[in-house]
Amino acid sequence: MSTSALDNRNGVLWLDGEFVPWRDARLHVLTHGLHYGGSVFEGERVYEGRVFKLTEHTQRLHESAWELGYQIPFSLEELNEATLEVVHRQGISNGYVRPVAWRGSEHISVSSRGTSAHVAIAAWEWPHVFSVDAKTRGIRLCTSRWRRPSPESAPVRAKAASLYNICTLARDAADAAGFDDALLLDYRGYVAEATGANLFLVSGETLYTPTADCFLAGITRKAVLDLAGELGIQAIERHILPDELSGFDECFLTGTAYEIQPVRSIDESEYRVGKTTTAVMDAYSETVHSPYSQAT
Ligand SMILES: Cc1ncc(COP(=O)(O)O)c(C=O)c1O
Repeated sequence: MSTSALDNRNGVLWLDGEFVPWRDARLHVLTHGLHYGGSVFEGERVYEGRVFKLTEHTQRLHESAWELGYQIPFSLEELNEATLEVVHRQGISNGYVRPVAWRGSEHISVSSRGTSAHVAIAAWEWPHVFSVDAKTRGIRLCTSRWRRPSPESAPVRAKAASLYNICTLARDAADAAGFDDALLLDYRGYVAEATGANLFLVSGETLYTPTADCFLAGITRKAVLDLAGELGIQAIERHILPDELSGFDECFLTGTAYEIQPVRSIDESEYRVGKTTTAVMDAYSETVHSPYSQAT
């Protein structure tokens, strides 16, 4: 086993109200959440020991579980406190937090009735999703054959593990074809998002982002829309067709893990890392590092 594997690290994580040694946080193979996908999670970033938008993430974890029909047995305050304590005990000043909730192993019927709800929170150092020079050069995306499903087919508002099957398939295909990430369209054929981030396009000095009506409306996406307002940059949410992609000047992805990630190309369409993208990147960086913007 690799010493960097995520199940083989030192320290502690939080599991159902207790701090447990990292390597002891194990599940039974007959866990309902493992078989039927009843797991929801969050990804949070730590900057200088503070968790950016902690309450928004904890709230979304609660809402995601609710969308899947269960209630997390810990309050927002309890989870926030546990998160900060995990970060502190692990000595993380800049890193990542992964809260996850799932249904337990009482039975293996497809019905979830009678299953218990569980939560764990782990934190570790994790500097960048892509290489450091990807921030200046931009990454290359290809359009996936996989699509984001309709709200009638899946709990699209939840950050649910089951929805990440599509993302993993899309990302693996993009990797195999030599791209950095994939762009997914939605079930109607509109431009949706990347495998772990939302998409912004720039035309002139105006931002455009797809209407988030069937995929995750990211917390970073919202932060960028707020920042655009502060910077006096017009931002428009609307449906975007793939045929329009070649008409934009700049493109970037937003997400907790990706932060603001410039895109160099989507298939044949090319973009520059221009002044609007750079202004948003700088403003976002200033925001996440500011102790005053962490209060939620
Ligand atoms: C599929 C997907 N879309 C969008 C996002 C961006 O969400 P956020 O900004 O809340 O991290 C993420 C990351 O969590 C994601 O996994």
